[in-house]
Amino acid sequence: MKLAIPFLIILTLCVSSCKEKSNPVADNNSVESRVEKLLGQMTIEEKIGQMTQAECNQLTSKNDIKDYALGSLLSGGGSPPGTNTAQGWADAYDDLQKWALQSRLKIPIIYGVDAVHGHNNVYGATIFPHNIGLGCTLDADLVERAARITAEEVAATGIDWTFAPCIAVPQDERWGRTYEGFGETAELQKIFAVAAVKGFQTASLAGNSSVLACAKHYVGDGATTGGKDQGNVLYDEAAIRAKHLPGYIDAIKNNVGSIMVSYNSINGSKMHGSKYWITDVLKKELGFTGIVVSDWNGIDQLPGDYKSDIETSINAGIDMVMVPGAYKSFIVLLKQLVTEGKVPVSRIDDAVRRILKVKVQMGLFEKPFTDRSLLASFASAAHKAVARECVRKSLVLLKNSAQTLPLNKNIAKLFVAGKHADNIGLQCGGWSISWQGLSYTATPGTTILQGIKNTVSSTTQVTYSQNGAGAAGYNAAIVVVGEQPYAEGSGDRTDLSLSAEDKLIIQNVKSAGIPVVVVLISGRPMTVSSEIDNADAFVAAWLPGTEGQGVADVLFGDYPFSGKLSHSWPKAMADIPVNTGQQNYLPLYPYGYGLTY
Ligand code: BGC
Ligand code: BGC
Repeated sequence: MKLAIPFLIILTLCVSSCKEKSNPVADNNSVESRVEKLLGQMTIEEKIGQMTQAECNQLTSKNDIKDYALGSLLSGGGSPPGTNTAQGWADAYDDLQKWALQSRLKIPIIYGVDAVHGHNNVYGATIFPHNIGLGCTLDADLVERAARITAEEVAATGIDWTFAPCIAVPQDERWGRTYEGFGETAELQKIFAVAAVKGFQTASLAGNSSVLACAKHYVGDGATTGGKDQGNVLYDEAAIRAKHLPGYIDAIKNNVGSIMVSYNSINGSKMHGSKYWITDVLKKELGFTGIVVSDWNGIDQLPGDYKSDIETSINAGIDMVMVPGAYKSFIVLLKQLVTEGKVPVSRIDDAVRRILKVKVQMGLFEKPFTDRSLLASFASAAHKAVARECVRKSLVLLKNSAQTLPLNKNIAKLFVAGKHADNIGLQCGGWSISWQGLSYTATPGTTILQGIKNTVSSTTQVTYSQNGAGAAGYNAAIVVVGEQPYAEGSGDRTDLSLSAEDKLIIQNVKSAGIPVVVVLISGRPMTVSSEIDNADAFVAAWLPGTEGQGVADVLFGDYPFSGKLSHSWPKAMADIPVNTGQQNYLPLYPYGYGLTY
């Protein structure tokens, strides 16, 4: 039987190139037997290759994909594999896949990317609000549709796997990744983990636009002391299980195909080395049968040298390692560890089985290349309409004195101020075209200012001023201020007040004595008590993405406000952490708060 499998693979590749439809995934038994047959053909080098995930632009040569039989590639934030268009990604993907299919056993690669709010690295993609805003919609069906559309755009570029959803439960707004989670409670984590996994994967991983989901970061990423990124969690196990684990349990029940291990430590031990949490809890107790992937260079943070990092992390239960550049030394050292008996072959086989199972389930052997027909709906009007709906439903109205909102579309003279009003980069935030995000219009979209202009009557005079000077004589003003983009630890802050520049813009407008509506663009609640006091109306708009029209839709009353706070809103820095359910809970606005018309 030894020759049967390669022969079958060649045959099925030929079938797919002959454009015949095949049903890639039959029942579980046939998946399992295909995996076992393939595993039986593999050398130890080939098995280790499958466990290796390299960053596309860190390959020394594309030959390495074939020569090392690499199992996976990824694109890091802002690191496109080719020309940064949907077509360019698809072309690059197919090229890289061809290299993989030249390896001895012709096992396709699985390619991952951080599509965390739409296919956000790709120029022109539909960019949705970040998860913190989606959490405020309380609309699981909408979030499932958003994930479905994201998957369609991801699949249109050939990519198989998204490192999403992030189901962190952020407890401390000082954390730079607060916006990546859906909100501060396990309740939101559970609802939206399931919605997102269903949307990405659909009922079958074999679907032509199904994309492998990855619940991350397991576990406790949102619970670090002081909200420090990659920091230490000082909770006891019961608290972690109650607040940070429930979303994983539900994601597993809904067949999430992969889970990413978190950089954080729990009581001083790094998750990447935790056999207890990865093998005993995740794989054995919760029955997770998919791929456990490490985070980017995550194993490097374990104590000891690189070789011992590999030993500890693989023995802890990690199946695939996001190396992302050190793939050659990773492969050499893991092979040594196996030869020396320090990593059992049974552990390697467990990892490779999980990886191959997902590849078989996805139908990658039969359909290794991009389905170009999906490109037709990339960033379509229908996709953007759903992103716009997400924006509308994510907005939270915190204050509305004297019914300042909704504004009348026939208002004679409207003043718009603040640089966040007319800047796609600022309204998208981090993980948008680049890893850290961009503070200029780096991709097409509708800015909030354009949305306002599209909405008011043809007789309305709209004046835009970045610094807010000259508002006297206008009937009302909309001031859009907020944070600069950031991602991960670069967004950790000890001060969440507005910049002096933004405060001045609000003051300038306020001094004109006209009604002032403040719209805040931010990845988390900010300490803006006095700005809220001074505004007539105040809206938390989070990081809405490319479809800024959704903001105007609600400000002018075409739709009501319906968003409810996914985070308790602190009065001042000294209140943080402030989370629902805690003793002496005294936020400025409680979790779940939100006015409507
Ligand atoms: C990559 C990101 C990655 C980060 C990790 C960056 O260079 O672009 O995708 O998350 O490094 O530190
Ligand atoms: C982040 C992950 C991300 C990975 C790949 C890491 O720095 O923590 O969330 O999936 O990079 O970009």
